[in-house]
Amino acid sequence: MRWRNTSANWGAIAKLLHWVIAIAILGNIALGIYAAGLPLSPAQADAFYWHKTVGLTVLGLVVLRILWRVATPVPRPPPGMPRWQRIASGLSHFGLYILMVALPLSGWVIHSASGFYLELYGLFEVPNIVPESADESAVQDGAAVVHYWLFVAISALVVLHVLAALKHHMIDGDTVLVRMLPFTRASDPIRGE
Ligand code: HEM
Ligand code: HEM
Repeated sequence: MRWRNTSANWGAIAKLLHWVIAIAILGNIALGIYAAGLPLSPAQADAFYWHKTVGLTVLGLVVLRILWRVATPVPRPPPGMPRWQRIASGLSHFGLYILMVALPLSGWVIHSASGFYLELYGLFEVPNIVPESADESAVQDGAAVVHYWLFVAISALVVLHVLAALKHHMIDGDTVLVRMLPFTRASDPIRGE
């Protein structure tokens, strides 16, 4: 197993982070919608406990992922990919990274402003990143609106992202999708892997 990326393939670490984070984000979207729809109750508090725990875990993993991204080489785009597609892919990936950080951060702002107590993994209390404010304060409401629109934005970009991955596979017939899947490896014309 190769841990690091090469010029033709994603390594195991990048793949693991991509898929764990993708599944956690999709699961947390469902959990967020479910929790927000429940009446004020112990069940709602439980659902938000898990929503916040998963969300903060995503934030930590995304920070690790960004560090790994800058520390390792990135596979090349497939040969012959038009310039506009390289630019679109660069911009959309950059946008996904920004949203993966901003979405949990905005959730953390709502949480901090609302003054709830949250212990992460039963180990330590999550610190507040903005001061606690009165019930239904402007900070809390504003951050909730921002959180909502960031969720809408990431959902739209993920749909586009999946369609692009499928287009690479089914229409262009290149290795872009296959090389991100677990337990696969695209052949490298240069290194002869
Ligand atoms: C992977 C990261 C996250 C995703 C995908 C996500 C997604 C969502 C979604 C879809 C909703 C329901 C839509 C809405 O009513 O606004 C929601 C609500 C909420 N989320 Fe998150 N969230 C994430 C991280 C977090 C984090 C880290 C926290 C807090 C530490 C948090 C706190 C909240 C709160 C308090 C609400 C209720 C907002 C309201 O009162 O309107 N979220 N989230
Ligand atoms: C919440 C869901 C997802 C997020 C946030 C996400 C995010 C990203 C990001 C930021 C990259 C760029 C990696 C880099 O250059 O550092 C990437 C690559 C990739 N993603 Fe996703 N992704 C998600 C779900 C999916 C799904 C469901 C698929 C499958 C269809 C997929 C397929 C791919 C592929 C094939 C690449 C590799 C592109 C390449 O080699 O240039 N992603 N993803």
